[in-house]
Amino acid sequence: MRVAVTGAGGRLGRAVVSALEEAPFTGPFGPIAWSRAIFDLDTPEGVGPILDRDRPEMVVHCAAWTDVDGCARDPELALARNGEATGVLARAAAERGIDLIVISTNEIFDGRRTDGAGYAPADEPDPINGYGASKLAGEVAARAAYEGVRGAVLGIARTAWLYGPPGNDFPAKILAAADRAAALREPLRLVADEVGSPSYTLDVAEAITELIGSAAVGGTHHLVNAGRASRADWAREVLRQARIDIPTDDVPASTWPRASTPPAWAVLEPTPLPGGEPLRSWQSALADYLPTLLRQRSAAGSVAR
Ligand SMILES: NC(=O)c1ccc[n+]([C@@H]2O[C@H](COP(=O)([O-])OP(=O)(O)OC[C@H]3O[C@@H](n4cnc5c(N)ncnc54)[C@H](OP(=O)(O)O)[C@@H]3O)[C@@H](O)[C@H]2O)c1
Repeated sequence: MRVAVTGAGGRLGRAVVSALEEAPFTGPFGPIAWSRAIFDLDTPEGVGPILDRDRPEMVVHCAAWTDVDGCARDPELALARNGEATGVLARAAAERGIDLIVISTNEIFDGRRTDGAGYAPADEPDPINGYGASKLAGEVAARAAYEGVRGAVLGIARTAWLYGPPGNDFPAKILAAADRAAALREPLRLVADEVGSPSYTLDVAEAITELIGSAAVGGTHHLVNAGRASRADWAREVLRQARIDIPTDDVPASTWPRASTPPAWAVLEPTPLPGGEPLRSWQSALADYLPTLLRQRSAAGSVAR
């Protein structure tokens, strides 16, 4: 099967490309990696000729403008990149009978849920920031493009709180912040009132590959590691696994005012995967990843403790 991946150099895109390289169904040439130079969200009309040239049977659309504060400052540009460009890609793919997976986010939900349950696919989206609104517009445009189309399937795969190679993610930022706090002999301040589903890109990419390999792409999927954590819980687990012992203080998210308002409850209820096995716990996924991050840091000459 010929599978193309947009945003192939991004955090999730690179993991999807790697997972597809290992998949038996992509054949000896592997997936087709589309960088920004090939598919640009600012000039999406160019996608038709690219589809005709590369002739994928499936596109995994990972490219997006993921700077949530940038999206809050310029919601129109966010809508153009994450909403309209997704629609252009979806219409071009649907017309050609090509299947599509659109990667989306927990930020399409308002995060005001208080019953302790994760958001399920049937829950009503109601974004509270420009990024979430633009990603929801992408979902809506893609669904409209595939409405009534026979012989081509659309999947929406939502995920949350992604981390993974090449680093510069939440765990890496916590390690760097711990260094700074230790140098200043201050407690590390951690946000305790945002709760979400920390998710490892390699696991999410495996799940996407499983959906494709099992011909189970259609519908809306919530692909997150099992469990949930506040930012503070997540950070403390990073420090525990990295064996860094420093004092911490819980603080509200309002301690750091920012352009975008993140949803306070960013928990997605994982949807079943074809093999029946849910993604492992976020703590176990973190344990797989952290040694790589720590090696990277020591190679860069950083002080970890
Ligand atoms: N990060 C999260 O916590 C999170 C959570 C839920 C859902 N998601 C979704 O998951 C997907 C992947 O996110 P990620 O974390 O991998 O983000 P990322 O690392 O920022 O990757 C985004 C990718 O999109 C590309 N891109 C950005 N602007 C572009 C443009 N104008 N034209 C073409 N390509 C462009 C980037 O290309 P360059 O490398 O050239 O910049 C990069 O390859 C996105 O759809 C995102 O909305 C992310």
